[in-house]
Amino acid sequence: MAGSDCGGTDGMADGKSRFDDIYAQPDPRAYFGRLAPLEYEIPHHAQPAFRRVAAERSALDDGCPGRPAVLDVCCSYGINAALLNHDLTLADMYERYTSPALGTMSTAELVARDKVFYAERRRPDAVPVFGLDVSAPAVHYALEVGLLDDGFTDDLERSSPGPGLRRALAEVGLITLTGGGSYVTDRTFTALVDCARRPVWVSAFVLRTVSYHPVVRALAAHGLRTTLDVSRTYPQRLCTDERERQYAIAAVRALGGDPAGREEDGRFHTLHYESRPDAP
Ligand SMILES: C[S@@+](CC[C@H](N)C(=O)[O-])C[C@H]1O[C@@H](n2cnc3c(N)ncnc32)[C@H](O)[C@@H]1O
Repeated sequence: MAGSDCGGTDGMADGKSRFDDIYAQPDPRAYFGRLAPLEYEIPHHAQPAFRRVAAERSALDDGCPGRPAVLDVCCSYGINAALLNHDLTLADMYERYTSPALGTMSTAELVARDKVFYAERRRPDAVPVFGLDVSAPAVHYALEVGLLDDGFTDDLERSSPGPGLRRALAEVGLITLTGGGSYVTDRTFTALVDCARRPVWVSAFVLRTVSYHPVVRALAAHGLRTTLDVSRTYPQRLCTDERERQYAIAAVRALGGDPAGREEDGRFHTLHYESRPDAP
């Protein structure tokens, strides 16, 4: 399925800009370099929410042995894992991966440096994080530098989870999502919760241009109740151009939202949804 939560200039689908090329690089430098001018910022807003919900989910005694793992869907280069488990901000990551000093390094050199960089910043309350993304190079990088404990490239929009992901899902207690609401649908979420063996919570930041209701319904069918934080929206990134701004305004209106002061001002915004089992 076509999607473009970041946006870009190498193609267009559904009225939104795309840049698939930066998703499948051997390391995150092109990703941060291309997204910096667009002020892509949703992982920054998700960071405190994901830390809070991960701590709450870890504290829940679900009767299963071992700590529940987080599964970050559309994990890319492990950005949410980096922000969850390390003393680090998204601004630090932009600075690092767009710095001229790192720009000339080979990927192997960068990976070696990043292993040390993240190890030095590892938080004492770090939780196990698995990643799911169709980009094998991005998942490989995140595993190499130690951001992910395990990683998977199954495309659950097209096929069922393979044996490795199935095994991992038995350990998952929390699913997180940023920047993926236009890529993964109820198909992916249904496949994930079908394989769960522990109570699974979901925390997702989803563009206002996309309906999350099919996912809410799929989760409800698995006994999960979803709440929406109506107190605010969270900025995701600037529109690439006037054409995309018009698309965003129309898409938000079509879903019953009000684009004034948000998409009308040239910026995509997200809503934060959290899902938990109906019964504890
Ligand atoms: C906009 S990036 C978001 C990355 C990261 N979560 C963030 O917010 O910075 C979207 C990611 O979704 C991935 N993706 C696209 N289709 C997917 C699918 N069907 N299943 C899993 N990941 C997918 C892309 O490869 C890309 O890495």
